[in-house]
Amino acid sequence: MGAAIPLKLDPASADVRPRDLRGRALSDLRISVLDRCNFRCPYCMPEDQYPRDHQFLSKAERLRFEEIERLATVFAGLGVRKLRLTGGEPLLRRDLPELVRKLAAVPGIDDIALTTNGSLLAPLAQTLRDAGLKRLTLSVDSIVPATFRAMSGERGEIETVLGAIAAAEHAGFAPLKINCVVMRGSNDGEVIDLLEHFRGSGHIVRFIEYMDVGTCNDWQLGLVVPSAELRARIAARWPLVELEPNYGGEVARRYTFADGGGEIGFISSVTEPFCGDCTRARLSADGRLYTCLFANSGHDLRGPMRAGASDAELAGLIHAVWNVRDDRYSEIRSGASRATRERVEMYTIGG
Ligand code: GTP
Ligand code: 5AD
Ligand code: SF4
Ligand code: SF4
Repeated sequence: MGAAIPLKLDPASADVRPRDLRGRALSDLRISVLDRCNFRCPYCMPEDQYPRDHQFLSKAERLRFEEIERLATVFAGLGVRKLRLTGGEPLLRRDLPELVRKLAAVPGIDDIALTTNGSLLAPLAQTLRDAGLKRLTLSVDSIVPATFRAMSGERGEIETVLGAIAAAEHAGFAPLKINCVVMRGSNDGEVIDLLEHFRGSGHIVRFIEYMDVGTCNDWQLGLVVPSAELRARIAARWPLVELEPNYGGEVARRYTFADGGGEIGFISSVTEPFCGDCTRARLSADGRLYTCLFANSGHDLRGPMRAGASDAELAGLIHAVWNVRDDRYSEIRSGASRATRERVEMYTIGG
């Protein structure tokens, strides 16, 4: 006897996610909760280039928690299961655990993560965990105090962030992801020190190629350290074995130390673009939907929502935006398109 063939598709398991022009499903939403930050990392908000008269969003312009919750519910209805909260620095937003609590209760959402610089995390780690936050990613660009300070624009201290990591472990967030943006001549000489520190801890250090996001960081190709170069340097010290991706579309290529020292990753948007599998949408703090990190504009969802659009109308808007998406900036990056193009800043849409 042959196996039973289901006569009709179970609606609960049907893939309702919108698809873009390249067949990529919308499956992951990153929510920026505010555009401010207490650091001035040179690759994101450099102190000297950054326009001093920059107008950050006002409270009225920012989405309220109820509005974020509502949009998350609409995205979940479209099949999104995974949320990541970003900034700026998301922990600067007052009562953030309250937002986490609301989002954790949204039907369909089964993963909520947060990206933070760690400066304000220690006293909040347990409250965030209790509110339903599942995973934490911290940015640590160097373990050497002076370099860490320089990479934060003289705003942060490594000791504070190490304290935050201890608090996060205590609250049950281990293993953490530790993101390190590598810039040639700034922190690339210290990647071995960073790994010496985290090897054996269970945390996963990921090295990120310096990207040309935004327009204020004065990006130059010469400041990018290709992951292949970095990997060779690391492997010369500790042999590495490549691992399979955890899931399709994962941005990091994963490796493990052959001696059992744990996992590391490389995020190589410049030298090995991964647009083909990009299923990430981004919502700015003022409610614009961006379909690419390198987009020059977003699609306003706040206006229609505040004007009384129904959930179905908002879902229709999102569907329509995603259906015509054709972004693949990292694959087609070129000098000419860079020079002429306005691009949203990373601190407005998060990492
Ligand atoms: P999870 O799978 O949710 O654990 O997260 P992740 O592995 O996708 O990593 P995370 O969200 O921490 O992203 C790490 C970094 O990768 C970001 O800060 C960006 O620098 C870069 N990145 C993430 N998504 C994209 C993307 O869609 N395009 C490009 N070019 N870079 C990205
Ligand atoms: N290049 C690569 N990653 C960046 N991030 C911000 N700006 C850049 C850039 N220019 C990412 C980093 C940081 C997170 C908050 O955003 O991963 O840890
Ligand atoms: Fe702030 Fe993160 Fe940008 Fe650094 S990378 S300035 S910590 S938002
Ligand atoms: Fe996705 Fe744009 Fe990044 Fe490509 S460059 S992976 S399309 S966000």
